[in-house]
Amino acid sequence: MSDDQLIKIEEAARNPKNLGEMESADAVGTVGRSDCGDMLRMWVKFKEENGRKVIDRASFQTFGCQTAIAVASVATEMIKGKTAGEALAMSGEQLSSPLGPLPPMKIHCAQLVEDALKSALDPTAANPTPAAIPSGPTLADQITPAGKVKITLLPETR
Ligand code: FES
Repeated sequence: MSDDQLIKIEEAARNPKNLGEMESADAVGTVGRSDCGDMLRMWVKFKEENGRKVIDRASFQTFGCQTAIAVASVATEMIKGKTAGEALAMSGEQLSSPLGPLPPMKIHCAQLVEDALKSALDPTAANPTPAAIPSGPTLADQITPAGKVKITLLPETR
């Protein structure tokens, strides 16, 4: 990873955009990776624009690495104004493109973001049962032993 790219990731992770729960979200997706133990939840809100239903805004929370935070930050900006189908068509590589090409060991961090987005927009693709939109507790609250959270563990081979 170049110094320039490292700086971009550090800056995006230090001041992430769209960090936090969205109470009025239309969709939410939560995914986790069994290989690194990181988790990411993404909320999406739609709006009507010129007769199309497009993403108004998206937010995220994560127990993830710096790269996952950075990718989620830029990705939640990039998908604004896109339809669900357009956003679903975006790969982890596309979602992380403002940060430059990620090194092989960090590609799965972008895939975590891609999978959370897919889980939110097309729950049947990533989750057998759509996750309910949380009505109060944060992701951190829901991971307490007494809490409940639906976590989809993704294959390690991706
Ligand atoms: Fe697991 Fe980055 S190390 S998401």
